[in-house]
Amino acid sequence: MAESTKTATLTIDGQDYELPIYSPTAGPDVIDIRKLYGQAGVFTYDPGFTSTASTDSTITFIDGGKGELLHRGYPIDQLAEKSHYLEVCYLLLYGELPSAAKLEEFESLVTHHTMLHEQMMNFFRGFRRDAHPMAIMVGVVGAMSAFYHDSTDINDPHQREVATIRLIAKMPTVAAMAYKYHIGQPFVYPRNDLDYASNFLNMCFSVPAEKYEVNPVLSRAMDRIFTLHADHEQNASTSTVRLASSSGANPFACIAAGIACLWGPAHGGANQACLEMLEEIGSVDRIPEFIERAKDKNDPFRLMGFGHRVYKNFDPRATVMKESADEVLDLLGIENNPKLQVAKALEKQALEDPYFKEKKLFPNVDFYSGIILEAMGFPTSMFTPIFALARTVGWISQWSEQLADPQLKIGRPRQLYKGETSRDYVDIENR
Ligand code: SDX
Repeated sequence: MAESTKTATLTIDGQDYELPIYSPTAGPDVIDIRKLYGQAGVFTYDPGFTSTASTDSTITFIDGGKGELLHRGYPIDQLAEKSHYLEVCYLLLYGELPSAAKLEEFESLVTHHTMLHEQMMNFFRGFRRDAHPMAIMVGVVGAMSAFYHDSTDINDPHQREVATIRLIAKMPTVAAMAYKYHIGQPFVYPRNDLDYASNFLNMCFSVPAEKYEVNPVLSRAMDRIFTLHADHEQNASTSTVRLASSSGANPFACIAAGIACLWGPAHGGANQACLEMLEEIGSVDRIPEFIERAKDKNDPFRLMGFGHRVYKNFDPRATVMKESADEVLDLLGIENNPKLQVAKALEKQALEDPYFKEKKLFPNVDFYSGIILEAMGFPTSMFTPIFALARTVGWISQWSEQLADPQLKIGRPRQLYKGETSRDYVDIENR
């Protein structure tokens, strides 16, 4: 924990309480309230954690005002342009960019852990064919703790490392198998001669009946999408993984909890919801109607893919994703993609609207990603599984950082209770 250089004074009923303030390497100072309840008998109140730092971390930093996202200090736009997903995984996990030898060793480790226990095939077959791939992923990843007992002891550093590699290596296989099961096609085994993104595309789109060549343009775009989704500070699903892990739960159970949280349309489910929204809007001339609906407090409709708790300027991932959408669609010869036309017009009109300006609502990572994924051949139901696949390294990096934290305590928030005070039971005949 950083040393306190100054304090905050809180006065309650004439009594002063001195609270230490810590200064980070970047971002806002924090006020340490851990002793507040013991000293003053009061809780702080922050539903949604809008002003609460739940931990200290060295992995990812977001400057919402500047639209800046750093992974171990490296800006996301540089990583998206110059690096690739497995190198970013190494950076997030171990804190530094790898040497060529270290990177080769890491990539070989991941490549040789991509197969699933063969018995898990039966596990998939218990689902209905129309099960949402996210439902399958939550179930299968949670069940991995029943198949990989030798990497569930979180107190054993070697087992933690094995679980880390297994999860990063096997998530594409699980996601691809969920997709193949969903569409009634045979599972495709991973191939060690393909890179991470190409292997995922091959497991999703190849069929035994004919040869499949991975398009390098799609593979590069897929890898970049993985990189853009890798980690994002203490977002809802990462906080879920940390809270689950604080009880000592095994890594597979914690990641399954993260997948479950990510599924929500306010979080990772927004990429699917955004494309469905663009489909519903259908044409540029219907955009004003939907913008008005998004502004109407009595209408639950929101512009999916817009807004963010932290970014109050542009989301740098959305900027890269938008460039990638143009590039991929051009290279695929998909001109005048109606959804892309609607998305660009919607973004322009929304950003010119006083409501969105005042509330600082900009496109987020989910606004353009679905357009690329659909152009690559994925159904909307696969958008969030791909987000989960890519975010696994972020979840597991944050999980690992928390387990190494000597301050680790089980997470147990308190509440502002507004229910009944103590009262006696009333027999049914007297009610
Ligand atoms: C992700 O946390 C992360 O880092 C998440 C993520 C990651 O990488 O892990 O970045 C991934 O989840 C991106 C966000 C994807 N979700 C969506 O695109 C769904 C649509 N967006 C919203 O639901 C919303 O913007 C959130 C959930 C993203 C953020 O919600 P907040 O921070 O709690 O903000 P809020 O709901 O309090 O909104 C503030 C105001 C409200 O109006 P008032 O009550 O002040 O009058 O802005 C309005 C909201 O009604 N508003 C929107 C809006 N988003 C917020 N109005 C219309 N359309 C929207 N999209």
